[in-house]
Amino acid sequence: MDQTTLLAIHDFECESLQVDWGHWAGHFRRNANRPFPEIRDPAFGLTRQTRCFVARSLAIFQLGEAGEGRIAKEIDSVSLFGVDENYREALKLFVREEGRHARILGDCVTQLGGELIQSNWTERLFRTGRRLLGIRLKLLVLLVAEVVGICFYRKLADKLPPGAIRKALMEIISDERKHLRFHAKFFGIRVRNEFSRLLFVFLWRALALAACASVLWDHRSTFQVLGVSFREAIAKFSKLTLVTERRITQWNSQVSEFREEPWFKYSGSAPDETEVVQ
Ligand SMILES: [Fe+2]
Ligand SMILES: [Fe+2]
Repeated sequence: MDQTTLLAIHDFECESLQVDWGHWAGHFRRNANRPFPEIRDPAFGLTRQTRCFVARSLAIFQLGEAGEGRIAKEIDSVSLFGVDENYREALKLFVREEGRHARILGDCVTQLGGELIQSNWTERLFRTGRRLLGIRLKLLVLLVAEVVGICFYRKLADKLPPGAIRKALMEIISDERKHLRFHAKFFGIRVRNEFSRLLFVFLWRALALAACASVLWDHRSTFQVLGVSFREAIAKFSKLTLVTERRITQWNSQVSEFREEPWFKYSGSAPDETEVVQ
């Protein structure tokens, strides 16, 4: 198991069982004050063909990151268990953070010599899915997108030469890990009986399967030129999907079986992201 998955599991373990959306709003507010990364790095270590495919893939993800604005308005009229003013503020700040990712990815695409795009079928699939659904299912689609983002950006970062683009991707991965916790908590407090657990598991696995298949297909050329194994990518995606599912469905119990697993026993607190790259 690689360190990114371990870190995601560690995040879940560190999360308190108490709902404190004010803590999350504060987290996103602090993040908003970070300096914007300068990306002046043409990724010299890559061939022209590789740059071209990576730029196309990042342009598709840039569209997805930029397209999550509606939910920030819709949440104002939603009345649901656990949704308070702090949650609404945190969700709006989360959407702004995804907008920051879109700008960072846009700069990466430009530096790789690619062009931003206006439309793509996987992005339309995610967008249409979100618009057809109620707020809870929209948030579930966003949760799946976090798993996709963590796995995809990490696979890319692993294959890129050291430099500003890889560093920017690692910053985004670090943010997406927090987003995963944020959305997972929203669902964790909802799964309180067997019916809600079964419904969640069914929807979660169906959405995760559809997302994994569409991303692998759409980005297959990028994976090929970078030498990313499909089997490894699927294994990583499946593992994080199942870990997320288990943490959500067991949120209200205090079971911490992962802590006893030998692969979980790395020392101390979460390592710095720069360590993860090595
Ligand atoms: Fe993002
Ligand atoms: Fe995210």
